[in-house]
Amino acid sequence: MKRIVGRIALAAACLLPLTCTSALVAADYAHEIQAKKMTFAWTVNDKQLEVKLSADTTGWVAIGFHPADRMQGANYILGYVKDGKVSLTDDFGDTPTGHKPDDKLGGTEDVTLVGGSEENGRTTIEFSIPLASSDVNDGNIDSQGETVVLLAYGPDRDSFKLKHKFRTAMKVNLTSGAASAL
Ligand code: HEM
Repeated sequence: MKRIVGRIALAAACLLPLTCTSALVAADYAHEIQAKKMTFAWTVNDKQLEVKLSADTTGWVAIGFHPADRMQGANYILGYVKDGKVSLTDDFGDTPTGHKPDDKLGGTEDVTLVGGSEENGRTTIEFSIPLASSDVNDGNIDSQGETVVLLAYGPDRDSFKLKHKFRTAMKVNLTSGAASAL
């Protein structure tokens, strides 16, 4: 029941150009946002954030939380699927236009793989991360207030080094599902 109420609130609260549709919410997730050809679905589950990302690419899909200056300061998860195997990386934005794996910056990889697929040119990854990471850089993801969320996907090649083909930024209340473009 709680989940249904959340979906209705989401549909009512989202502002263009983001599209938020309760009917299309994957059964397993409480909220969903569609930004162009990219979909972000999620559930706040106690101290974890469960995430599903999909985009029309055979390369990487990614999300970032609370940047300080463009890409800098954000907590990123990127993933791609190659030969049926999902590769994830937990990164941190160390410059305004770049990021590095957490463990190369003195931190820790805190992402748990749930699943993924690549079908008909569309990549989907599912994972969970702690809202309060113990990583030295990541900081906390605020599930109650407004969180700046970055979404991006890369070109059709399985390399985390390639720059995005698409990227966007938005403000999201992860608990209510309310979202607005930045
Ligand atoms: C994979 C390697 C990546 C490279 C080489 C890269 C590189 C860049 C560069 C050069 C810019 C500035 C030029 C532009 O606006 O296009 C930029 C901007 C941006 N990138 Fe990335 N990026 C990468 C990954 C990501 C990821 C994973 C995300 C989010 C999940 C992201 C989100 C953004 C956003 C939102 C901007 C615009 C920032 C602003 O102007 O406010 N990038 N990136």
